[in-house]
Amino acid sequence: MTAGGKRDRLHPARPRDVGGTSAVRVTPFIVAIDGPAASGKGTLGRRLAERFGLAHLDSGRLYRATALLVIEAGADPADPDAAVAAARRVSPAALGDPLLSSERVARASSILSAFPAVRAELLAMQRDFAARPPALAEDVAPRGAVIDGRDIGTVVCPDAGVKLFVTASPEARARRRVKELRERGAPAIYDDVLRDMKERDARDSGRRVAPLAAAPDAVTIDTTGLDADQVFEQASDIIARALAADGR
Ligand code: CDP
Repeated sequence: MTAGGKRDRLHPARPRDVGGTSAVRVTPFIVAIDGPAASGKGTLGRRLAERFGLAHLDSGRLYRATALLVIEAGADPADPDAAVAAARRVSPAALGDPLLSSERVARASSILSAFPAVRAELLAMQRDFAARPPALAEDVAPRGAVIDGRDIGTVVCPDAGVKLFVTASPEARARRRVKELRERGAPAIYDDVLRDMKERDARDSGRRVAPLAAAPDAVTIDTTGLDADQVFEQASDIIARALAADGR
């Protein structure tokens, strides 16, 4: 059990056991997806989870939810005490808030994610999710989880069965993010999005604790010239092979 009952915060419905029986506990199969801003990790993670019967956690939403709580409290994301207090209050319900998708929240999340105490707070939640992925539906236990972020293969789940590092040129990522924002009705100027994204990447890669990095044993997929379906198929092949090799 982690400190402060955090374990249950991401487990609104608790599975009986991975594998579906209460007698045998099989180690959850974990797919770690890391990569820079707007590389498509979230969408890829969701689709892979669905295809392979895995639970999904977009860890960026934990940092974004923390940032939103800080902003709503009128505090400064660069204030470590305010940031840690907010990280302690993050709940599963907060992860679905549409306000998390704004660029303002993205910027704030990347500032506060550099604080070791914030990361420690959210790390416990992510590790618990990986150890006991929540049920997919009532009485449908997942066989593992897909978790995407910046440090999943390096820090959160160094023993993941599959590690992917998904990347693309900054320009391709900025174009995708602009499209995504406009589809949601948010005004977006390409040059501003590109500049903010580069700033965020530099901050995420340059921080002392758990920087954005590919694990040495990660498979890198450069999605610059690929569409979402092609990336999904490549990643699916890698996972299918790993599951077969694991006898699952
Ligand atoms: O969707 P996008 O790739 O733009 O960002 P995100 O995955 O939602 O993450 C938002 C911010 O949270 C990142 O810029 C990182 O600073 C931070 N983050 C992190 O530090 N570690 C993670 N595992 C996930 C996100």
